Amino acid sequence: MTAHTPPLQIPQLSPREIVSELDHYIIGQDAAKKAVAIALRNRWRRQQVVGELRDEIYPNNIILIGPTGVGKTELARRLANLAGAPFIKVEASKYTEVGYVGRDVDSMVRDLTDLAVSKVRAEHMDSAHEKLDALIEERLLDLVQPPIFTEDEETAELPQGEKQEKIDSWKKKRAELRDELRAGKLDDLNVEIEVNETSMPLMQIFSAQGIEEMGFNMPEAMGDGSTRRKLVQATIPEAREHLFEEEFDREIDMDRVIREGIRRTEALGIVFLDEIDKIVSSSDGEGVGPDVSRSGVQRDILPVVEGTTVATKYGPVKTDHILFIAAGAFSTVKPSDLIPELQGRFPIRVEMERLGEEEFFRILTEPRNALIKQYQALLATEGVKLEFSRDALRELARTAKDVNERTEDIGARRLHTILTTLLEDILFEAVDMVKKDIRITKGFVHTRLKDIVEDEDLSRFIL
Ligand SMILES: Nc1ncnc2c1ncn2[C@@H]1O[C@H](COP(=O)(O)OP(=O)(O)OP(=O)(O)O)[C@@H](O)[C@H]1O
Ligand SMILES: [Mg+2]
Repeated sequence: MTAHTPPLQIPQLSPREIVSELDHYIIGQDAAKKAVAIALRNRWRRQQVVGELRDEIYPNNIILIGPTGVGKTELARRLANLAGAPFIKVEASKYTEVGYVGRDVDSMVRDLTDLAVSKVRAEHMDSAHEKLDALIEERLLDLVQPPIFTEDEETAELPQGEKQEKIDSWKKKRAELRDELRAGKLDDLNVEIEVNETSMPLMQIFSAQGIEEMGFNMPEAMGDGSTRRKLVQATIPEAREHLFEEEFDREIDMDRVIREGIRRTEALGIVFLDEIDKIVSSSDGEGVGPDVSRSGVQRDILPVVEGTTVATKYGPVKTDHILFIAAGAFSTVKPSDLIPELQGRFPIRVEMERLGEEEFFRILTEPRNALIKQYQALLATEGVKLEFSRDALRELARTAKDVNERTEDIGARRLHTILTTLLEDILFEAVDMVKKDIRITKGFVHTRLKDIVEDEDLSRFIL
């Protein structure tokens, strides 16, 4: 990118706004929220910098470190919607060293580019509707009622009066059909449309082998220059969609879309590298078995993070300014077990905190997708009204903390296991219940869970 490139227009949530959006889903973890909010805002800030300096400003990659079940992956999921930029979350553990069977690390950049290009294409699609919808409507009507040609042999030879009559009745019919079409009354009608003949199964076999990753354009590679067409039956909505896609593809300037997609990927792209600890080998076991391949993956990741050019099917993509956010539990290995070069590429380290009773209490009810809300919604479909007393929620939070302390600390995931156990009978019987109002009290929580919680083996097994 040169100094003259205009800034990319991206949504401008302030760090505070980003944090408050995240607050709707994630309880606590303020340090992590703050760090990612700053990183996101810095993307936008860099875009506003004019002159050559812009190119010199590299993202500060972040590494989030925290025990299992404290919200690392959840944070990534929620960020995806806020980033206003190409964003993908990948599991570091799914990559294998170049030369081995599996996905090589470059594919994360290819996936990110794919995503950006599809996004740009979809944006164009929105505006194309305005332009194409009238045309598509006409073509749909033609499928239901063949067009009238005044120069037809048949029509042309008719006396003027009859000819006009014929045209008038055609127009009248068309107006009626148009109304019906708009009202959705023709939706069940079957029409015949022409589509491209594709050899789907063949393509699937190829892409399963990962050939698409090498940047092949499948139809071209298959040497099928002249696409064969065939007639198929379709309902009106199906036909409308198909006609739109076809018109859209004809209309759209794909080169421009691709250029814009690549530009966004390079300037704004974010890769969330989850489970990064899974590609770290412990300092004592270096050099044997899978460890070799693990540090191999780290070595492969290094240039991508550092800045390299990856070949994608859309062309070369530079990774210099892509922001990487890594996360890992690091339960058996330490961040310092990462190869030093890679450590150096993640200058911002944020610890995510272990969750306690207070957080559990809030996690149960506060997030937009809170577990209690989920169960209430599920049971409401059976006409059952489920309520929890405050005490009961406290008791649940305390139980989760206790069990985590005495068995294994699995963080907020404990709430899932405890709630399913607590509500099992209710979930089973809801359909047949006569009394449809259920209030969960502290007493109920206590009796239902006591035996399990007190018996350590049992809690290990059930909770
Ligand atoms: N701080 C939190 N606020 C709200 N919900 C949370 C929080 N932490 C965890 N959860 C919930 O707990 C579950 C597990 O969280 P998540 O997948 O983010 O864990 P993780 O930190 O990625 O753990 P792991 O290291 O095992 O991958 C999710 O359903 C998530 O919604
Ligand atoms: Mg996770």
